[in-house]
Amino acid sequence: MIPAPGGFGAGARSRLLPASVTLRYFGAAVAFHVLAWVALLASAGDLPRFAAYGGLGPALAALHLTTLGVLTMAAFGATLQLLPVATRQPVRSLGTVKLAWWLLTPGAALFALGAAAYRPALLGPGAAAVVAALALYAWLLAENLRRARGMHVVVAHGWAALAALVLLAGAGLALVAHYEHGLALERGAVASAHLVLAGYGFMGLLALGLSQFLVPMFALAPAPSARSAYVALATAAGAIALALGAIAAHAPYVLAFAALLGLGAALLHVVSIERALRRRLRPPLGPAFQLARSAWACLLASLALAVLMPLGWAPPRAAALFGVLLVVGWLLGFLLAMLQRIVPFLATVHASGEGRGAPLVSSFTPQRPLALHRMLHLAALALLLAGVAADAEWLIRTAAALGLAGALAYATFFARVLVRLHKAWHKEKTQHGLQSAN
Ligand code: HEM
Repeated sequence: MIPAPGGFGAGARSRLLPASVTLRYFGAAVAFHVLAWVALLASAGDLPRFAAYGGLGPALAALHLTTLGVLTMAAFGATLQLLPVATRQPVRSLGTVKLAWWLLTPGAALFALGAAAYRPALLGPGAAAVVAALALYAWLLAENLRRARGMHVVVAHGWAALAALVLLAGAGLALVAHYEHGLALERGAVASAHLVLAGYGFMGLLALGLSQFLVPMFALAPAPSARSAYVALATAAGAIALALGAIAAHAPYVLAFAALLGLGAALLHVVSIERALRRRLRPPLGPAFQLARSAWACLLASLALAVLMPLGWAPPRAAALFGVLLVVGWLLGFLLAMLQRIVPFLATVHASGEGRGAPLVSSFTPQRPLALHRMLHLAALALLLAGVAADAEWLIRTAAALGLAGALAYATFFARVLVRLHKAWHKEKTQHGLQSAN
């Protein structure tokens, strides 16, 4: 079945959140995206050290500006808007959606500030606000999944992502308590578990689940095979559980095997999506899919490296290469690819007045800043990998500068969509006023 191109019939319209609510999540993500590259620019020299040893510092700040500020923020906005449409269940409480934003936004900023300044006293309250936001989101998500009608594949991914979210927040809090209150724990192992749960568990499974719905919708393609999706999900969940056990038991061979299972799951996901794309009705896929394909390649590469690392067969500085592939290449790349389709699409739905059809999505997609962003993002990613591989701080800094320019181009795209939406509303109001006057 091919999802309705708009995906927003009359029933779906009633499940639309106010534009200001969804767009505040996306707007904050776009702003944190700029800040994250600024933080990396300032912490270029700290990146290889952080990847090898972890700990507080500007690199941890740059990482969580990305993971909490951009990825989590945009994932909240996207799922809270799109899942109610997919599952035909309205969001349980609009006030809770707004409150989660008010907790996550300052929380992520304070967390980053505390990390960058080596100040656990700031890190703690930041983390507490973030975890409170995650708890609200988890409740909203659980309520939606519990009442869902249809879209069983997406719902199954949602439950798995939710379980990972609870565990990742627990591990994150334990790490913060370690820094703030000296909680005794095996920091390296907890940080590794946190990475697996956050990167592949929560964010990864959510991305896999939403792809089942978004990719066919934007490419006008049939939904990928549900059987492949369930097998990929079960394999990925098994791989994550096995990886957690291997980390706890300090069993490198088991960890390598878990990564191999994860690689199998990712490969199955990518192949099944590509198969569905081959049967699409809209021949040109559009440039967002170039970014999505580079993201899928990075997902596979990160897992290939994760197989080699525990066996001691990986190249030097593999941990940093792995982090860049996972966070910048896969998660950030895929999110920015989807967001550049979601934002104009939602804007057109909000621009359409009572009884009038939505304007063309292409008329709400400023292409030039997006093309510039794509070029700069991919160049930044390539230079970042080269800089880390060669241990060359100047290359990492150059990559961060290119990434920052790309983030500004992306912010320009977002701002232009907002301007077009305001113009459409203004036009609508004027026409309405004229009609009433007549
Ligand atoms: C989806 C959201 C998140 C993602 C994707 C994420 C990702 C990561 C990654 C990849 C690392 C590096 C781990 C390593 O060095 O092996 C890390 C470290 C860390 N994370 Fe998160 N994280 C997220 C949310 C959180 C939250 C909510 C908290 C706090 C409540 C937190 C606290 C920490 C701390 C304190 C570290 C430092 C570990 C260390 O090196 O000592 N993270 N995170």
